[in-house]
Amino acid sequence: MSGKKNILVTGGAGYIGSHTVVELIAKGYEPVIVDNFSNAQPIMLSRTEQVAGKSIICEKGDCTDAAFLRQIFRKYTIEGVIHFAAFKAVNESVDKPLEYYHNNIEGLICLLGVMREFNISQLVFSSSCTVYGTPVGTRTVSESTPVGTPNSPYGWTKWMCEQIIRDTVTAFPEFKAVMLRYFNPVGAHESGLIGEWPQGTPNNILPYITQTAAGRLEQLTVFGDDYDTPDGTCIRDFIHVTDIADAHIKALEYLDTNNGLAIFNLGTGKGTSILELIRAFEQVSGKPLSWKFGPRRAGDVTEICADVELARSELKWEARRTVADAVRDSWNWEQKRIADGL
Ligand code: NAD
Ligand code: UD1
Repeated sequence: MSGKKNILVTGGAGYIGSHTVVELIAKGYEPVIVDNFSNAQPIMLSRTEQVAGKSIICEKGDCTDAAFLRQIFRKYTIEGVIHFAAFKAVNESVDKPLEYYHNNIEGLICLLGVMREFNISQLVFSSSCTVYGTPVGTRTVSESTPVGTPNSPYGWTKWMCEQIIRDTVTAFPEFKAVMLRYFNPVGAHESGLIGEWPQGTPNNILPYITQTAAGRLEQLTVFGDDYDTPDGTCIRDFIHVTDIADAHIKALEYLDTNNGLAIFNLGTGKGTSILELIRAFEQVSGKPLSWKFGPRRAGDVTEICADVELARSELKWEARRTVADAVRDSWNWEQKRIADGL
């Protein structure tokens, strides 16, 4: 393990943040969560403590509030930052672009400014494969594939945040950053105590599947049956959230011994079609799923998978869990939530 101790985890009460906090604690780090709870259920924090077997420091506040961040950096000796805090709903960002640009971009700029004031120079940033836009000529993208045209204001915030971090690393040689481009994070902690808890009707496929099977939703619509793929449905690189969480520990370790900026794709390298995902769910749950085909969803990419070679060789990380593991853990989380009346 590295010598680092206190790691500021912005957005640490959210879906990926909570799983990462569990892994940080397991590796001996002391995470300090900052979250404004705009998209986190307070119960997630106590559940995260239950999984981690330890109480967790959590300060409620906003990353766009420099005075608040200064207070945090004064109170704790922070040695590195993992920045998850952002709005992330693709559809919502189309209707609320200003809120998205303000929260995601101003939040990053404010955080970077306060990190500079306090001489904290190690950042791990949550990016997304959305920065590749629609890949041209290939369906497997590597970090050297040029970034493209994101299909939503949300996607543009990630694209712009990446550029802001790139420019910051260039301007200040002591500043180092790892930007992690997540493909499609799915799954839940194996305990079933924490997982993804979308507000309202989910937009993402796996929560839609589990909520349909649980009877919370009537039927899944598969968007499009005529894509240029073997079964006509889109293909995605689904990656277990615990594997994503592990990659953040590797990123902190990487920053201990490397300078400058590094970018890594986080995926499995293997694509799964939407019909394959439904079949995997039916197999794991033993339940037939109610679904139908509908028209294509605007903005969907036919197929995108991660080239994971760089993460394997440089970050010393690779996904260990399968899509079936993710489906099993998501289903377990959904069922436990229902059993707990949540
Ligand atoms: P999430 O919404 O569950 O977690 C984000 C957390 O940040 C929430 O707890 C929210 O309350 C908090 N937050 C938002 N704005 C804040 C602010 N200004 N100040 C303080 N707290 C704030 O989302 P997630 O799925 O865990 O995603 C984490 C990060 O990963 C985000 O940056 C997201 O864009 C990125 N990402 C997610 C996915 C995905 O599919 N989940 C894919 C690619 C990238
Ligand atoms: C989207 C975003 C991505 C973001 C991620 C997590 C786009 C193009 N990409 O990924 O930037 O990081 O969400 O928030 O918006 N599907 C159905 N029926 C449904 C829901 C989804 O068939 O009810 C299909 C979609 O058409 C798509 C696949 O499932 O082919 C995956 O969709 P989704 O889970 O929303 O993720 P992405 O669109 O890949």
